[in-house]
Amino acid sequence: MNICVVGLQWGDEGKGKIVDLLSESADVVVRYSGGANAGHTVQRDSREKTFALHLLPSGILREKTMCVIANGVALDSEVLLEELAELETRGIKVGDNLRISGRAHLVMDYHKKQDRLSEESLGKAKIGTTIRGIGPCYSDKAMRSTAVRAADLLDLDRLKEKLRVIVEGKNKMFAALYQDSEPLKSEYLFEKCRLWAEALGPMITDTTALLHGAWSQGKRILFEGAQGTLLDLDHGTFPYVTSSNSSAVGLSAGTGMPAKAVDRFLGVVKAYSTRVGAGPFPSEQDNEIGEYIRKKGHEYGTTTGRPRRCGWFDTVCVDYSIKVGGIDEIALQHLDTMSGLKEMKICTGYRYKGKKVDFFPAEAEVLQQVECEYESLDGFEEDITQAMDFAELPAPARKYVERLEEILARPIRYVGVGRGRQQTLTR
Ligand code: IMP
Repeated sequence: MNICVVGLQWGDEGKGKIVDLLSESADVVVRYSGGANAGHTVQRDSREKTFALHLLPSGILREKTMCVIANGVALDSEVLLEELAELETRGIKVGDNLRISGRAHLVMDYHKKQDRLSEESLGKAKIGTTIRGIGPCYSDKAMRSTAVRAADLLDLDRLKEKLRVIVEGKNKMFAALYQDSEPLKSEYLFEKCRLWAEALGPMITDTTALLHGAWSQGKRILFEGAQGTLLDLDHGTFPYVTSSNSSAVGLSAGTGMPAKAVDRFLGVVKAYSTRVGAGPFPSEQDNEIGEYIRKKGHEYGTTTGRPRRCGWFDTVCVDYSIKVGGIDEIALQHLDTMSGLKEMKICTGYRYKGKKVDFFPAEAEVLQQVECEYESLDGFEEDITQAMDFAELPAPARKYVERLEEILARPIRYVGVGRGRQQTLTR
C-alpha cells in the first residue's frame, strides 16, 4: 500500500511524527516538495531529544528504509550536510539509504540573499518567509536559464561557467534593485558546489526511475508532503504561501509518479490551528487563548524559532484541503495541548459582509475579513499524554474528535497525545 501524508493547515501539523510511525511499514519514503523552510520534529520516544529534520525524509531514522529527496524539492545542500552530520553524531549513519534526484533544484547563497533583500524591501507587505531562499530558487526553476539542478554537480566544468554567468547577473540585479554593494563571488560559490559534489554526488540519481522500479516491484512507498495545503502555491492563501505545491497535488510533479500510484491520502491536522508568517488566519486567537495554546503546544517555528500564531480548529479550511487533496482519512495531532481549556471552539462556517460563505475563498483580502461561526464544546482538564487507547480519553476529548470527524466526513484514524512515537492512538 502506497500512502501520501500531507498537511491540511498551514504546516507544522506534526506530519513528521506520522511519517516516522508509518515508515515502519514502508520500504521507501519520499520527500516531494519544499526545502529547508520545512521543519519536521521527530522523537523516537518521549525521553529522547527530538530530531529536527528540514530536508531529510522522516523515515531516515529507520536504517532499512530507502529515503528519497525527489525532484520537487528545493535542495539546500549545506543544510542537508549539517543534518547528516548531526544524525551521525547521534549514532545514525546514512549511506546507501538516501537518494537525491538529479532534477532537484539547488538553493544557492544568492537565493537566500534575494529572499532577504526582497522581504526587507517589502516592509509591511512582506510575506514573512523563512529567508531560506525558497521563493528565489523556485523562481529560477521557472526561469530555466538561471537554474542549477543537483545533476549539475556531476559536471563541475560546465557548472563553473554556468555559475559565473548567473552570479554576474544576480549581482547586477541586487545592485540595481536593492542598492546592494556586496557582490557575491562565483569562485566562492563554485568551491561550495565542489564540496557538495564530493559529499552528495554518489547519492544523486534518477529518482523517477527508482520510484517506478520500486512501484513495479510492489514495494511500499510513503510520500511525505512538506508544509501544508494552505501554503500551496496554487491552492493556498496566495500570496501568503510558499513557492511549491505543498498540497497533495504536488506529488506527481514533485516525483514523476502518477497520483494513481497512491492508495491512500492521509491528511494531518492539529487539534487547533497555527500559522507562521503573514497572511489571513480567520480563526486566529490573538489573545490569552492563543497564548495558552502557544505555550502548552510549544508553538515556535522549528526552522526560524518564530512564535506561531494560534487559533481554533477551522473546519472550513480543512474541508477545502480535504477536497483539494482527495484526502481519505485524518491524523489529528496535539490533542493533549487542548487540556486545561474551559471550552473548545470549532469554526464551522464563515460570513463575509454578513452573508454565509459556501466555499473557502480564493482571495486573501476576502479571507482577512470573514467572520467565523463557532460551535463550542466542553473542555477537559485531565493530562492525556499517557493514554494508550482512545476509549481512555475523557468524554469531552472524545466528543471533540468525534464532532470534527462528523463535520469533516472523514475518519480520524490517528489521535496524537504527545510527541513520542508511542503517543499516537490508532482508532
Ligand atoms: P517560504 O517558504 O520561506 O518562502 O515562506 C513562505 C511562507 O510559508 C511563510 O509564511 C512561512 O512562514 C511559511 N512556511 C514555510 N515553510 C513552513 C513550514 O514548514 N511550516 C510553517 N510555515 C512555513
